[in-house]
Amino acid sequence: MTDGSYTVAVCGATGTVGREIVKILEQRSFPVRQLYLFASKRSQGEKIEFRDDDLSVRELTKSSFDGVDLALFSAGGDVSKKYAPKAAEAGAVVIDNTSAFRLDDDVPLVVPEVNPEDIAEYTARRIIANPNCSTIQMVVALKPLEDAVGIERVVVSTYQSVSGAGRSGISELEQQSIGLFNLKEIHTDRFAHQIAFNCLPHIDTFQPDGYTFEEHKMIHETRKILHRPQLRVSATCVRVPVFYGHAESVNVETRKKLTAKRARQLLQEAPGVKVVDEPSSNLYPTQIQTAGLDETQVGRIREDASLDNGLDMWIVADNIRKGAALNAVQIAEILVSKYC
Ligand code: A2P
Repeated sequence: MTDGSYTVAVCGATGTVGREIVKILEQRSFPVRQLYLFASKRSQGEKIEFRDDDLSVRELTKSSFDGVDLALFSAGGDVSKKYAPKAAEAGAVVIDNTSAFRLDDDVPLVVPEVNPEDIAEYTARRIIANPNCSTIQMVVALKPLEDAVGIERVVVSTYQSVSGAGRSGISELEQQSIGLFNLKEIHTDRFAHQIAFNCLPHIDTFQPDGYTFEEHKMIHETRKILHRPQLRVSATCVRVPVFYGHAESVNVETRKKLTAKRARQLLQEAPGVKVVDEPSSNLYPTQIQTAGLDETQVGRIREDASLDNGLDMWIVADNIRKGAALNAVQIAEILVSKYC
């Protein structure tokens, strides 16, 4: 990395998150000298627009990283496990959007509004992990409450869109919806059951303790990002028939009492958060209204009547932007401005 501009590789460039990364690099004028787009062999030669060029997608191989400064991975955990170390060996810094390295002690797990200082630890393996989408939007809203009064316990239920499962998730909801409206037989492949007009309390694989892996991600990643290894967190993650945007009902028990009014103020001042909370005008965040936006939206902020120090809130974000691509590009921005 020399003249203030960088050779950037996007691995998984044809996917839902990869395409958004390319868009965001352009929208935020990230100093890209050269952009390489990688995907599987299937996509070789496909064109993706960047600035005023149509760039060709290439097959990802071990030798894809010569001269690459920054490699943004979003092609699934197996691809990251295989190729991210190769990219790091070749001298790139990896920002990885999968769960492959998130809980490794020597890999920082970063949400720029929450723990940007952890980026400094990238030198150990030259890998920085981007957290799970549902974790990112939750910790952005928890951070100001943690700083103000300390958090004792978090109980969250999520309402996660099908885009979190990539292109196959989006097309399964589309195909099932079209099929049902046309009285056709529908097929279930990406999800365990019909997702159209249905909600599935099942994201990722079931674990021996009864939680799913997605729920484990929320629990363990929240602890790591907030530097609270003992924080009590419980999660229920639900896939809902929505295309874009994840919503979360979050119950927080704090160490000291926080009124709803004070919590609203703290959230209004928090970076990356927009408070949308005017019940008298039916104003609260929804997935449709949040799609395409950068901020995490928080509403329905109220004191939990069943606890001395409890708050309830409804947190919504665009899972493809803040939950994935935007967070990764924000990490890259801090990396190049402060560390490289
Ligand atoms: P491809 O389009 O060639 O399959 P999504 O989860 O939205 O479907 O995106 C997954 C991304 O990961 C796509 O860009 C996909 O490329 C890419 N990908 C999947 N498997 C591989 C692989 N073995 N090597 C490189 N990229 C891969």
